[in-house]
Amino acid sequence: MTALAPDTDLRTRLRADPYDAYTYGYPHKSAYRTFEQPVDLAELWAGQDRQHLSGYLHLPFCEMRCGFCNLFTLANPGDGLTAAYLRALARQAAATAEFLGDAQIDRLALGGGTPTFLTVAELEQAFAALERAFGTRPDATPTVIETSPATATPDRLRYLREIGVERVSIGIQSTTEREVHRIGRPQAHRTAVGALDAIRADGPPLLNVDLMYGLAGQTEESWRRSLTDILAWRPEEIFCYPLYVRPLTGLGRTIDGWADHRIAQYRIAVEVLTDAGYRQSSLRRFYLPAVGTTDDEYAADPHGKVGLGCGARSYTSSLHYSSEFAVERTPVKRILRDWIATDDFTVATYGIELSADERMRRYVLQTLLHVDGLDPDACRAATGLDPVTELPVLARLVAAELAERTGDGRIRLTAEGLELSDAIGPLLYSPQVRRRSALAEQR
Ligand SMILES: C[S@@+](CC[C@H](N)C(=O)[O-])C[C@H]1O[C@@H](n2cnc3c(N)ncnc32)[C@H](O)[C@@H]1O
Ligand code: SF4
Repeated sequence: MTALAPDTDLRTRLRADPYDAYTYGYPHKSAYRTFEQPVDLAELWAGQDRQHLSGYLHLPFCEMRCGFCNLFTLANPGDGLTAAYLRALARQAAATAEFLGDAQIDRLALGGGTPTFLTVAELEQAFAALERAFGTRPDATPTVIETSPATATPDRLRYLREIGVERVSIGIQSTTEREVHRIGRPQAHRTAVGALDAIRADGPPLLNVDLMYGLAGQTEESWRRSLTDILAWRPEEIFCYPLYVRPLTGLGRTIDGWADHRIAQYRIAVEVLTDAGYRQSSLRRFYLPAVGTTDDEYAADPHGKVGLGCGARSYTSSLHYSSEFAVERTPVKRILRDWIATDDFTVATYGIELSADERMRRYVLQTLLHVDGLDPDACRAATGLDPVTELPVLARLVAAELAERTGDGRIRLTAEGLELSDAIGPLLYSPQVRRRSALAEQR
């Protein structure tokens, strides 16, 4: 994989539009389809090692729908829907616990949507359902929850801290109010400040803040200011998301020189946060070294994930599944209503099967896009396939000096490769996933 001329074509192509996709959880949900036959979940999970699972609870409600967001969530769900949702969740958790048998859930995440859209009493119900079914308690199982500025209220934060939730993750996006409004999020700066103060005063001990760059009207100076403003709270973890414009969100590309603008802003984030003592673990994630890298976005999930709630994904080694997916209000409501009315949570009807090739690609994506890089031997041991022979693009990345072989045989992105890693991800997708995701985007 050495002695090739630098692959300038590849580099030029990736630089032209470096942020067209965000590889999060390969294969992406847009590649999921309805299965020909429902899959029996008891049979599926019986063949898995169930001793170190992660649990995820999706709470798909928000006080508003932000213009940039294409997550599965419903703004202003209206009377009664959250209560009915929690009743269905209790049924699903009980059914899941039954077919999982002696499974052990090692860590828990509550995401959405905005989990703290729920009241304290509703959050209590959700945690009670998890404890009854799986014996998980946040004071014994590391637990992380997402929140938003408007819903991070002292009563909820105190409750979360009291029951032992370890980490809270909040989307601030920018400290310049005008920039946040332009991406379709009616957030007052004083609300964001109030929420961060409340988290530090009353909330769980670890704080993660999400910021976004590449926004219309955002200058290098205002981005620098957002970063330094946020440092006042010294978050243990900061995610800097380049704005990616996704189908169905209705947000257009409004800046000339989009790609260069975002690369420049990415570099500012690296500079400001590194100077402030943060380490980088991926394109997006920066953390204080004392906290470590355990909750990493690309952390390999070799033991499987149990997703609960409508919109959650579950991962086994051979099959990923979830409920149906939508972004627009009418189909989201329909999917939610159908899910709430479900009386059989023991089958999966929608998802994707993972062949050995897909498993190997998933392993590569989870490790190559992380600063520690890909260990080809470990990949072969875990998936049975050698990524170096299966994926010639790895050699091209090395030839283009976007990746390098380290002394211990790993393939690791260079600094330039890391800043282009959102464009590198899709090069590793299988033809099937590429085709299905492209079709989904056209619909
Ligand atoms: C589930 S949301 C955050 C939780 C909470 N609902 C909130 O909005 O405050 C996860 C994060 O992904 C990022 N994100 C969402 N859509 C994005 C997009 N189109 N481009 C870049 N980042 C995005 C935002 O930073 C957002 O805070
Ligand atoms: S960004 Fe957060 S608050 Fe906004 S719609 Fe998405 S999940 Fe809801």
